[in-house]
Amino acid sequence: MKKVLIATDKPFAKVAVDGIRKIVEDAGYELLLLEKYTDHNDLVKAVEDVDALIIRSDIADRKVIEAGKKLRIIVRAGAGYDNIDLAAATENKVVAMNTPGQNSNAVAELALGMMVYMARNLFNGTSGTELRGKTLGIHAYGNVGRYVAQIAKGFGMKICAFDPYVDAETMKSEGVEPVGSVEELYSECQYVSLHIPANSQTKKSIGYELLMKMPKNACLVNTARKEVIDEEGLLKVFAERPDFRYLSDIEPEMKAAFAENYTGRYFFTPKKMGAQTSEANINAGLAAARQIVNFFENGITTFQVNK
Ligand code: 3PG
Repeated sequence: MKKVLIATDKPFAKVAVDGIRKIVEDAGYELLLLEKYTDHNDLVKAVEDVDALIIRSDIADRKVIEAGKKLRIIVRAGAGYDNIDLAAATENKVVAMNTPGQNSNAVAELALGMMVYMARNLFNGTSGTELRGKTLGIHAYGNVGRYVAQIAKGFGMKICAFDPYVDAETMKSEGVEPVGSVEELYSECQYVSLHIPANSQTKKSIGYELLMKMPKNACLVNTARKEVIDEEGLLKVFAERPDFRYLSDIEPEMKAAFAENYTGRYFFTPKKMGAQTSEANINAGLAAARQIVNFFENGITTFQVNK
């Protein structure tokens, strides 16, 4: 009997686990659960005897992949797969997949929620500002970026986007103004919402020069990855520009420096919370389970990321 392990340091909602269990057991497989583990070795041990692995931001490094002697497939229930060692997966003939789009609305709602929170001065009782009429730049117009644009339109924001992989006509047809360069996006937009993946090209790519271009009362919104920010550069911007604010879904490495000097100008979630809704857990978790069954039963490899 095939064994499917859900390994989630940040567990799915129970309703999602129940749904995954049904799909897995209906296929005649066994479901195993490793939740809220604190030691990476627990994952290394748990993977030893399983055929398939479902993870979130959990680290599927070479150690995990090589420990999985029977492992054939890892599905990252979510979008970003920077937590999977793709080279190790390929070398060990393990298929790696993600579930694009399934948790995007949840992430987009958090981005807008944090923006309202900051615009109203963290709900501290003082007079804030409104989002209506302000300019929002979407840095990468993928699944999350699109939802952010849709919701922001409801707030009456003017929306621009930069994405070299999406054609200008598509953006225009969705009411979004395409801009030709990253520099232009940051120069024109008071709010910028980041939706780029973390990879060797993007890590530390958002820094001093770019952020200093943003207009007065700038606010950078990061529901992507903390790794894409050059934190030293951002702190330099904070020191030079008292009008600059930063929102991040997960605390930056240098959070102590923000806490010490810049209270009221930032908000960080204590854990990555963007996809932490029942709906997102159900969408992404069930998609992961279906992809695993489809892979074993029908050889389907849609959404494979290590081709
Ligand atoms: C993603 O890449 O899908 C999001 O960052 C969500 O990550 P999570 O599943 O760890 O919450």
